[in-house]
Amino acid sequence: MSDRPVLWLPRRVSDATIARARQGYDVILNEADTPGTADEIIAMSAKVDAMMPCHSEHFSAEVVSKLAPRLKIVANHSVGVDHCDLPALAAKGIVVTNTPDVLSDATAELAMLLMLGAARHAVRGDRLMRTGAWDSWSPSFMVGKQLTGARLGIVGMGRVGRAFAEKARGFDMEIHYFNRSRLSPEQEQGATYHDGIDTLLTVADFLSLHCPATPETVNLMDAENLAKLPDGAVLVNSARGALVDEDALLHAIESGKLAAAGLDCFKTEPGGNPKFAAHENIFMLPHIGSATTKTRDAMGFRALDNLDAFFAGQTPRDLL
Ligand code: DGY
Repeated sequence: MSDRPVLWLPRRVSDATIARARQGYDVILNEADTPGTADEIIAMSAKVDAMMPCHSEHFSAEVVSKLAPRLKIVANHSVGVDHCDLPALAAKGIVVTNTPDVLSDATAELAMLLMLGAARHAVRGDRLMRTGAWDSWSPSFMVGKQLTGARLGIVGMGRVGRAFAEKARGFDMEIHYFNRSRLSPEQEQGATYHDGIDTLLTVADFLSLHCPATPETVNLMDAENLAKLPDGAVLVNSARGALVDEDALLHAIESGKLAAAGLDCFKTEPGGNPKFAAHENIFMLPHIGSATTKTRDAMGFRALDNLDAFFAGQTPRDLL
């Protein structure tokens, strides 16, 4: 019997992460890579000292109330922690960490893809090519929206929001943002600060969401706020599905209020919203913002750094 901590990996994280985890821990890996259910999380808590879940494992207050005392740390393999009831975990004395920083560039890159794909009719163009339906061309064919010189509104100027702004600067976009607090001039780099979301919405030809899902931000983009955007705006969401009222978004697309949307996150995951599929001006991806080899390794290693610090009696860098 080893005296090393036992670590549960409910999902198949990167090979490099698994290999490094095996050097320091007795690893229980869910080879099937199926999302950890409430029952599995509860049962596993009696067998392990640590877990490295993804956003697919839900630590609700009810689940947390049933966790066995053996479990000491939940080292998330994600920056978002809306799948964890943090007060319930804290009350139980379970340490929780996440993986900030390391996925900012990959997520910002994907947000650019969403913005470009939505603005330039990527779904329709791809379909025409694949189905052999491209049979004409004219100067008015598939005319989209240009990023250059357009006003970009960013909600949430944390790490991902700032990385996205940096990439958008390369497209000469005029950057506006709303954040709980104003950035320093060095971080702002000429971006215009809005101290409320309302004024930001009125200038956002493109609006990109980069704030966490919290009780305050659920359905942030509801019918009322979507109506404040300029006509023909493009909405981009690479953060969390909870931020958008999907019925209101559908209405804004169907009425022509929005020209397009680029979405990587949905209220229901996996699966998404089947009503969106009929609209080629909704460019969709299946929650793959941080899915690059480089970033997946970095996320796994960051979660392991947090575990290593905890079991060495130190404060993990990303303690929440
Ligand atoms: C995150 O890290 O929050 C990403 O959404 C992947 O889970």
